Amino acid sequence: MKLQIISLFPEMFPPVLETSMLWKAKDKGLVEFQYINLRDYGLGPRKTVDDTPYGGGDGMLLKPEPLAAAIEAAKAYNVERVTYDGKELQPLRNTKVILMTPRGKRFDQAKARELAESGQDLIFVCARYEGYDERITEFVDEQISIGDYVLTGGELPAMVVIDCVVRLIPGVLGGQNSAEIESFSDGQILEFPQYTRPEDFRGMKVPDVLLSGNHAAIEAWRASQQKNTDQN
Ligand code: ADE
Repeated sequence: MKLQIISLFPEMFPPVLETSMLWKAKDKGLVEFQYINLRDYGLGPRKTVDDTPYGGGDGMLLKPEPLAAAIEAAKAYNVERVTYDGKELQPLRNTKVILMTPRGKRFDQAKARELAESGQDLIFVCARYEGYDERITEFVDEQISIGDYVLTGGELPAMVVIDCVVRLIPGVLGGQNSAEIESFSDGQILEFPQYTRPEDFRGMKVPDVLLSGNHAAIEAWRASQQKNTDQN
């Protein structure tokens, strides 16, 4: 899966996306990241990307031209990529453009699974400032919010979505168990509490059932300990 990120602050991404599990996914060739600096598509000698809103109001809005040009450039990269033999052009890949915005549809585990299984590459558009010219929405396929609160930009929300999606790509998660736990939960049920050594940590003991070796009893206990996400 190729993940392209359009942002005014592309340097925010590698420390998060190229660490731990996500780095391993990249190392195994399961994902590829490309960072695209929106500033490169700014207008004029000052590479302007924002302007004041029509009708008045505080703050600046991202202009539509640089955002549209950056999205088109992201797609064009995929067309121009050459195949392994270095000759043929690769056909345009099936790409979904996602705008991160608090006005988007609320992100959840089902959406993460859908994106991970879609076989589509993803282009994330991270808005900044007070917002963006509404006409940019003509260039995106989906608008996603990570929750009903407003951050200073779409970068952290894009990282949240990417983290959730990448760990669901087959081969990314370490143990088979973690994948299994999720395959029946599908995000509706949160995992049961788990314990590792030592058996007694500062007087807090591991539940006896987990030490019993009785697998049926362990499964029953785990089922009893799972929670629905709406119980939190
Ligand atoms: N940009 C700012 N706040 C956001 C949010 N809650 N979700 C997605 N993008 C955002």
